[in-house]
Amino acid sequence: MSKRELDLERLQDHVATPQASDQERRSEVSLRPQTLADFVGQRDLVGHLEVVLGSAKARHQSADHLLFAGPPGLGKTSLASIVAAEMGSGFRVTSGPVLSRPGDLAALLTDLHDGDVLFIDELHRLSRAVEEVLYPAMEDLRLDVMIGRGPSARSIRLDLPNFTLVGATTRTGLVAAPLRDRFGFIGQLDLYDVDELTTIAKRTAGLLEVSLDPAAAGVIASRSRGTPRIANRLLRRVRDFASVKGHDRVNVKVATDALALFGVDEFGLDKIDRRILTLLCEQFAAQPVGLTTLAHACGEEAFTIEDAYEPYLLRAGLMIRTPRGRVATERAYEHLGLHQRHEGLF
Ligand SMILES: Nc1ncnc2c1ncn2[C@@H]1O[C@H](COP(=O)(O)OP(=O)(O)OP(=O)(O)O)[C@@H](O)[C@H]1O
Ligand SMILES: [Mg+2]
Repeated sequence: MSKRELDLERLQDHVATPQASDQERRSEVSLRPQTLADFVGQRDLVGHLEVVLGSAKARHQSADHLLFAGPPGLGKTSLASIVAAEMGSGFRVTSGPVLSRPGDLAALLTDLHDGDVLFIDELHRLSRAVEEVLYPAMEDLRLDVMIGRGPSARSIRLDLPNFTLVGATTRTGLVAAPLRDRFGFIGQLDLYDVDELTTIAKRTAGLLEVSLDPAAAGVIASRSRGTPRIANRLLRRVRDFASVKGHDRVNVKVATDALALFGVDEFGLDKIDRRILTLLCEQFAAQPVGLTTLAHACGEEAFTIEDAYEPYLLRAGLMIRTPRGRVATERAYEHLGLHQRHEGLF
């Protein structure tokens, strides 16, 4: 295999995954919507937030603590930074795995300014010991710090400035119940529809100065698995393709050819989705398959399959979850051009 083919192979592997690489996360910052009005879709959630933030502003107080939950790439981090911008507050960012010791969180909390928004990403990955520090901070703006060791140890209490904690998680079920209960508002983000993703693709094309035909925006949107991050990524790949091939405008043909080159099919499935479905249809002969077995057979982590791939495969009606495991649907067989083995089902 030539180097070029190898590079393409690597690009194709994760082109439609909702999760971002570190490099992509850095380039995403400039594409983030800055205000609630700029944020496309999630109308119910945005409506609720307008009320929560509007009333806090009217009372000249910090907003309640907010938790955003939903699959990767749907806009949780974007919403958190919008909350800070709408409130005119400072924005401090950290994440569950980074806060490994209680002292790390204590240092961050004591450094907050009045009204700041503290964003904790991957909230479900906080350790118990760190959560314990968070409870009184969230409830009473209070921090209990132990000083010294042994018999002379004593606890001192520090008062914290007003702040709003914004948490994000791809797994509400893994956030400890006492922590979840301390949020005044929990917003669930859902996959976007094609119209919303078309608007997002057009908006990003404007920011990246790509001439994109409206119909080509629709092609990108319908292959984005309900996920804005993927719409933006596919648009960038289409732009690369157009510039290498010398096209000034991206029309439907350019978009379709580009996405075919990157291995994204008309459902927006990439190689890993197709591997999952092919395994379910063929290797496991239509028997229900447990998550761990499936992950092992795909060479992916179980949580990656569950967080990143399953939500869309379920929503697109290509797979169902039964109590005994995952099963591909008739639609998946049709899409892959395979024959269903009825005798193997259930
Ligand atoms: N509603 C939206 N309107 C416009 N662009 C959006 C919207 N939601 C997300 N995006 C775009 O998608 C990208 C990913 O969004 P974001 O980083 O906020 O997702 P996330 O839910 O925090 O993902 P993760 O779980 O991986 O952290 C952003 O760069 C942003 O440009
Ligand atoms: Mg995020």
